Parts: sequence; C-alpha cells; structure tokens
Amino acid sequence: MEIAQDVFGDSYKTAERYVDILASRGVDWGLIGPREVDRLWPRHVLNSLAVGSLIAEGSIVVDVGSGAGLPGLPLAIQRPDLNVTLLEPLLRRFNFLTEAVAELDLADRVTVVRGRAEEHHDRYDVVTARAVAALPKLLGWCLPLMRANGQLLALKGESAEAELLDVQKTLRKGRLSGEVLTVPAPGTAESTWVVRIR
Ligand SMILES: C[S@@+](CC[C@H](N)C(=O)[O-])C[C@H]1O[C@@H](n2cnc3c(N)ncnc32)[C@H](O)[C@@H]1O
Repeated sequence: MEIAQDVFGDSYKTAERYVDILASRGVDWGLIGPREVDRLWPRHVLNSLAVGSLIAEGSIVVDVGSGAGLPGLPLAIQRPDLNVTLLEPLLRRFNFLTEAVAELDLADRVTVVRGRAEEHHDRYDVVTARAVAALPKLLGWCLPLMRANGQLLALKGESAEAELLDVQKTLRKGRLSGEVLTVPAPGTAESTWVVRIR
C-alpha cells in the first residue's frame, strides 16, 4: 500500500509483515473477522497511528487490552523510540502477540504481558486503549497505571464526548483534565476521536 509506505518509511516491510500475520493467523485464530481483511490498513493499522502525534519521544507505553496488537504494534513499528508493553488477559491473544512480536523482531522493546489492567501494577508514561471498555470502567483500570505526568489515550467512536461527561466527577476528584481530540489517522482521509486524560 503506497500511502502506508510513506507513513511507515523504513519500517514499512515490518508493517507489511504484521498485516500479513493479521490476515492469516489473525483470521485463523479468530482475532480478526474475515470481512476485516480488505480494510486492515486503513481501519486498523493506520487508525492506530492516530495517537502517535500525542506521544512524546522515548515514552514508555502500555497498550491495555491489546487484542491482536492494536494500537500497540503499529505504534511500536512506526516509532522505534517507544518502549511498548502489550497487556492482554486472554491466552490465545497473548500467544498470538508473543509470536507476532518475535516474528517482527521487536522483542528488544516490545513486551507482552498476560493479565488484566486492574491486576497490573507497573506504571507508564502513556496508557493506550482501543475498543476495550466504556470510559468510566477504563479510567478505573488505567489511572493506577499512569505515572505522575502520564496520560491515557483512549481511541473512541462518536460516543467520546458522552463518555467523557460520565467521568467528570472522577476527574475532579483526581485533579485530572480530560478532553476529546479529533485526530487525523495518518495516510487516510479519516479522523478518529481520542479521549486524552492527564
Ligand atoms: C474488542 S477487543 C479490542 C482489541 C484491540 N485493542 C483492538 O482495537 O482491536 C477488547 C480487548 O480487551 C481485552 N480486555 C477485556 N477486559 C480487559 C481488562 N480488564 N484488562 C485488559 N484487557 C482487557 C479483551 O481480552 C480484548 O482483547
């Protein structure tokens, strides 16, 4: 995909290999719907990169509920400066991620951890989450994972504003700020909604 070549630059071959893994093993193992195969690049991989512009150089990132690696793996592939933990409770997904990270030669800075967010005790500069849970629940799980100056970046649909309203009390209590950002997904005409809490 020509646009993806521009977006990923030197890392394009690795991104292409990841898309191949999603389209083959990802579908065989039931992590990716067969109908998603034709839109893996725009809807999943490039969409995942939307949060990249909000992540400072050299950040330590955890991707909560990573599933087949979204958004954590596209970010790690595009951004060699990031150190990324993929957190996923389900065994089949954890095994998929472990194999993918090894095959993509990313094991030196991408770690796969099997577990639930609420049972994980490390802290990170950035917590990402895509399609994991509604914000009130997600915030409860993710706040303990954030370092003092850390941020949560939740990729959301059109419900983003309404979900943010639902957590105002928690934000006030924790002296946190929340905003909904409309961020372009690189290489596509689409934008995506990101709830940023910090
Ligand atoms: C709908 S999938 C989304 C996967 C991926 N983020 C994506 O965008 O394709 C939700 C994922 O969240 C994981 N999950 C559910 N509850 C979780 C929890 N408490 N802690 C961490 N992950 C969780 C599930 O196992 C699943 O892989």
